[in-house]
Amino acid sequence: MDRRMEEVRSQVETILNAAMTKLPEGELSDAMRYACVGGKKLRAFLVMESARLHNIADDAAFPVAAAVEALHAYSLIHDDLPDMDNDDLRRGMPTVHVQWSPATAILAGDALQTLAFELLTDPAIGDEAVRLRLVKSFAHAVGGSGMVHGQMMDIAAENAAVPLDLAGISRMQAAKTGALISFAATSGALMADAETEALRIYAAKLGLAFQIHDDILDVTGDQETIGKRVGKDAEAGKATFVSLLGLEGARAREAELIDKAVAALSPYGDAAGNLRDLARFVIDRQS
Ligand code: IPE
Ligand code: IPE
Ligand code: MG
Ligand code: MG
Ligand code: MG
Repeated sequence: MDRRMEEVRSQVETILNAAMTKLPEGELSDAMRYACVGGKKLRAFLVMESARLHNIADDAAFPVAAAVEALHAYSLIHDDLPDMDNDDLRRGMPTVHVQWSPATAILAGDALQTLAFELLTDPAIGDEAVRLRLVKSFAHAVGGSGMVHGQMMDIAAENAAVPLDLAGISRMQAAKTGALISFAATSGALMADAETEALRIYAAKLGLAFQIHDDILDVTGDQETIGKRVGKDAEAGKATFVSLLGLEGARAREAELIDKAVAALSPYGDAAGNLRDLARFVIDRQS
């Protein structure tokens, strides 16, 4: 899995860089390019593995992987803004609003979001029906009932009199983190017009485990390794799986979820080896 992950990481950065050299030179494209460098590119890897399982060629899947990472980069820029999580460190570097300004960060996020949709129109991906199916599913995953909705619930919960309970947190995380992960994991099946159910279940478990681990790392992580500030969730008074279940409870929950994610892959047999490895990586990772 590791070699393939590295290959996907570098290819996606190359595609995103190439897309940004077509933009006018200046602060906006500099900030966009900056925000796309680094990170695990885990969602891109999900796209590529989902595609491979459905015999979709790499050349067709890479623009989709790049679109997902452009969207993710936008979500991180906005997540870090002073009026959101107010973070100054991301992927070991100053956040975009610190490096430039909040206005530039907002605009770079906006432009990365539209770039993501533009990438999904690439004819290399497939015929128009395929691309339309992807655009629709992607928009649904990241918009007002998906990722942005989840971010809203997260921010609203910070200021609410009553903190979220376990069910509320699960719903919030399914939207905030899960929806984009689910799109990435099912994208190959969508491209092939195949059944998405098994991958949808895999992604739902994986996405929740992924966010639980993100919350755990916020408590136990090391700033140098993780590349972002730690202790922010408690400082902001956020209800997280860790605040509700305790560290051990959260660890047990993520392990259970990963077992279920792996079990959901059984229809794919040995071909899903990389997705099984990824599931274990998600809860073993230190960054
Ligand atoms: C961080 O995502 C934001 C969450 C949804 C928890 P990642 O941990 O995938 O961030 P990068 O892309 O590797 O930096
Ligand atoms: C961010 O969640 C989720 C999105 C960007 C959609 P967090 O706020 O927990 O992510 P980090 O911890 O800042 O990476
Ligand atoms: Mg946040
Ligand atoms: Mg944050
Ligand atoms: Mg976090």
